[in-house]
Amino acid sequence: ERRVVTGVQPTGALHVGNYFGAVRRCVRLQDEGEDLTVFIADLHSLTTKQDPQLLQENILDLTAYLLASGLDPDRSILFAQSAVPRHAELCWLLACLATHARLAHLPQYKEKSAETKEVPLGLLLYPVLQAADVLVYQGTHVPVGRDQLQHLQVAAQLVKTFHHRYGRMFPTPQPLLPDDGSDRILSLRDPNKKMSKSDPDVKSRILLSDTDDVITKKIRKAVTDFTPQVTYEPTSRPGVSNLVALHCLAADKTPEEVVEEADGFTTAQYKKEVSRALCETIAPIRSRALQYRARPALLRDVLRHGAARARKRADDVYERAAAAVGIAPPA
Ligand code: TYM
Repeated sequence: ERRVVTGVQPTGALHVGNYFGAVRRCVRLQDEGEDLTVFIADLHSLTTKQDPQLLQENILDLTAYLLASGLDPDRSILFAQSAVPRHAELCWLLACLATHARLAHLPQYKEKSAETKEVPLGLLLYPVLQAADVLVYQGTHVPVGRDQLQHLQVAAQLVKTFHHRYGRMFPTPQPLLPDDGSDRILSLRDPNKKMSKSDPDVKSRILLSDTDDVITKKIRKAVTDFTPQVTYEPTSRPGVSNLVALHCLAADKTPEEVVEEADGFTTAQYKKEVSRALCETIAPIRSRALQYRARPALLRDVLRHGAARARKRADDVYERAAAAVGIAPPA
């Protein structure tokens, strides 16, 4: 039995890396009839400083964009992580099995903690909470971008430790990585980095909320190289290849098709094609999201309904885990 579980942080508008790398794949899995749970990782977002009012706005924005992307709250379970306290409770049980040394060694922790003098403990616990997010639903498959692989390795390790101490309880969650080039969409300004919500340069990413005009300008300014031809060579020409990858994802084409169509174009001319394909994909999502966003009561209802369904499942798994550990009252 497959249970697909994933989360997205409410840290600002979704970019095309989030969309192609995770959100759209979730929608496709849902449409294929998979059991899908998607939550807004609001507890995770607290590991970096958030303005409370803005965070509330961001949670509703993200809900609107997830619905606009095709998530169907009747077929899939959509809610805010904090509305299901079992995530945090299971996190504690797992935190007691995790070692400081292992967590402090993770590259994402090292990077993030290097940016600040006062490192919040939540940042260290980040992957443990992420493991709890999946395990509390006995999730089997986790659609994510490549940047989340190390976090899922922590989850696998915690499952092993839990089983060793208390007996079998959780399936080991498997990452579901795409094979269409969307596992790591690159920054438009520095193709050596991934596209990221936290990059200070807004021109480095294309948001689902960007207008056609903004999309076109950002693609025009995208850093490529000094070769005018359009080719797909991710290692030696990451900039142009990232544009080809985005074009393929938006237009549902292969790199070979795209490169052949672009024969004779300079990269500057080709960028217009890329913008056109992206605008065609993004514009309808943006306009649907705006319609949803104008109905905050509906969005809150969707999250409430999702949380109630999630809580039922999470209670069941958590109670068994607690009993295995020995903290549950005898039945
Ligand atoms: P977040 O909110 O940073 O990103 C959401 C999803 O988008 C993917 N992604 C990308 N994919 C391709 N190219 C990129 N440049 C790119 N940037 C981001 C991410 O891999 C992710 O799938 N820790 C998670 C949220 C989370 C979670 C979980 C995920 C919390 N608990 C449990 C899975 C399971 C995060 O910060 O995602």
